[in-house]
Amino acid sequence: MRLVLLGPPGAGKGTQAVRIAEEFALPHIATGDIFRANVALETPLGLQAKAIMERGELVSDEIVIQMVQDRLDEEDAMRGFLLDGFPRTVPQAEAFERFLRARGKPLDGVLRFDVPEDELVARLHGRRTLEGRADDEAQVIANRLAEYRDKTAPLEAFYRDRGLLVEIDALGPVDEVTARTLGALRALEAAGA
Ligand code: AP5
Repeated sequence: MRLVLLGPPGAGKGTQAVRIAEEFALPHIATGDIFRANVALETPLGLQAKAIMERGELVSDEIVIQMVQDRLDEEDAMRGFLLDGFPRTVPQAEAFERFLRARGKPLDGVLRFDVPEDELVARLHGRRTLEGRADDEAQVIANRLAEYRDKTAPLEAFYRDRGLLVEIDALGPVDEVTARTLGALRALEAAGA
């Protein structure tokens, strides 16, 4: 299957992606993880992305689109993939749609994780305490949520219009969210995805 996970910071995309990828034997492609690895290695891409990520802003569409297309052209993504953190803007979604159309490989579904904002903030504050991720600082969390509202939330309508949006209630214990997500994916599979 070719799947996208959509949802605000702290919605649990990364947490659930690991489980979905294992269950459906898909490569899990997380743009945030790719950027963080490049920042840690101080590659040219990492040096470009570091300050932007620390402010909670989005890396430029041009950079992200090229990075994801290169990754999707690798052998392990030929039979399917699970994208976590991409697309995140309408121009990214449009470029991605053209890319998939050119290869005759349309998306099967876009899972939208729904969590109220106060819970998102609580989860990210919790992670800051436990793991110290640089962009989980209060002001940066606020910027990331604002970026989501302004630039990523319009993708919900974009994919709903294409009949691809699957809404998942992502509030509650991790295992329960996994059960709901896998149930939705099995229904998608049974419907012919
Ligand atoms: P990215 O790493 O994608 O950050 P994000 O979307 O803000 O995602 P998070 O990792 O914060 O949240 P998540 O939904 O994955 O939740 P998680 O499972 O981790 O991107 C980082 C940055 O990279 C961006 O800000 C941007 O600068 C750049 N970038 C990346 N992609 C880009 C793109 N396409 N375009 C431009 N720039 C891009 O869970 C969060 C916490 O909650 C964890 O502690 C977890 O244990 C906990 N948790 C999870 N599920 C539950 C649950 N059910 N109940 C309680 N706690 C839970």
